[in-house]
Amino acid sequence: MVCLGNICRSPLAEGILKEKAKAKGLDWQVDSAGTSGYHAGELPDSRSIAVAKNHDLDITDQRSQQFLASDLDEYDLVFAMDASNYQNIVRMAHNDSQKGKVHLIMNMASPGMNQGVPDPYWGNDGFENVYQMLDLACDKIIEQFA
Ligand code: 4NP
Repeated sequence: MVCLGNICRSPLAEGILKEKAKAKGLDWQVDSAGTSGYHAGELPDSRSIAVAKNHDLDITDQRSQQFLASDLDEYDLVFAMDASNYQNIVRMAHNDSQKGKVHLIMNMASPGMNQGVPDPYWGNDGFENVYQMLDLACDKIIEQFA
């Protein structure tokens, strides 16, 4: 799960997918990262922590980390939150196989629409909407790949 800062959107995506995978008994390795390292080592944004908590999800074990080119080897699937994240990740790919692992996450719910998960960092009211979008997308990820 990849966004820009790995403090708002992708930590929620990581927490939601981990919970759903666990509920299904799937042995998946789920992690998140940012295309930037601006917030490396930091906890998720307090607003993401609060929204997660409202949905009985604890994401306070997470720390921000920067996405690495080697993650395209280590992981089977990479979900980008928006088009900018997608392009930055695809630019790091060394071959078509790596490129093929990268998906815009909302295309799981609305195929081909290339919809981004809006960055809630600069406002205050986008976090519940982000949660709902990611909850839906993660259901589809489980449906498609479990
Ligand atoms: P995220 O949100 O990519 O969903 O974690 C952001 C967090 C920090 C910044 C931008 C977006 N920033 O510019 O510091």
